[in-house]
Amino acid sequence: MSSSSSVVPHHIAIVMDGNGRWATRRLLPRLAGHRQGVESLRRCARACAERGVGVLTVFAFSSENWNRPADEVSGLMDLLAKALAREVPQLHKDGVQLHFVGDTASLSEKVREGLHQAEAVTAGNTRLILNVCFNYGGRWDIAQAAAQLAARGEAITELSLDRAMALSFVADPDLLIRTGGEMRISNFLLWQCAYSELYFSDRLWPEFDEAALDEAIAAYAARERRFGKTSAQVQKSSRV
Ligand code: IPE
Ligand code: IPE
Ligand code: MG
Repeated sequence: MSSSSSVVPHHIAIVMDGNGRWATRRLLPRLAGHRQGVESLRRCARACAERGVGVLTVFAFSSENWNRPADEVSGLMDLLAKALAREVPQLHKDGVQLHFVGDTASLSEKVREGLHQAEAVTAGNTRLILNVCFNYGGRWDIAQAAAQLAARGEAITELSLDRAMALSFVADPDLLIRTGGEMRISNFLLWQCAYSELYFSDRLWPEFDEAALDEAIAAYAARERRFGKTSAQVQKSSRV
């Protein structure tokens, strides 16, 4: 196959899992793993931009993660606020357009203010769109989209729901990566991943480096996306 290995996904989504295990294996507190996770995200975003990926969407905190011990939850909120203050100037220089996706209304005033500012500062950037899903759940997203339509008295169709979803400003993910070895979606992009290629890595998120990203992209390039058609149809339409 000639050019298939050069196919880079336009939109990559990642369930960044395994921070806690990374820390526990080193006899460190779980929060040290989350801190290392921020480093890994910085590296991954840069690598995606260098490879020509247009959109990176990451799962940072799920609707269900509130059920963790209170000190881990408050540590994660604190980490988000601090990471924003520290990382945004460089992300801005690197041409990253930041979005926070999820039920942000229920976050603290301080965190919300930080999110808002980061989005406003980076709004004009075009090199890479980075969507950070925080207090996000796939079920929350579908329900909030349906609630918007109901409030406006609009009919519920696939198209109208799609347009009301939190990620309606980008195309659906081409490739969904989950690190940390678990083979589940854990309430991530339930609607948007209908036809995403799934890739599971045993690496823990802090250890997911450029080589691991390249392996995932190579696996993606070798897939045949059929969207319900037959293989023969797909091959015919991709011929030049
Ligand atoms: C993912 O890492 C980050 C969050 C869910 C916030 P985990 O904290 O779930 O790490 P493991 O799965 O316990 O190793
Ligand atoms: C998914 O990881 C959520 C994030 C990575 C933010 P979890 O660690 O919360 O998922 P489960 O509980 O193992 O399914
Ligand atoms: Mg986990």
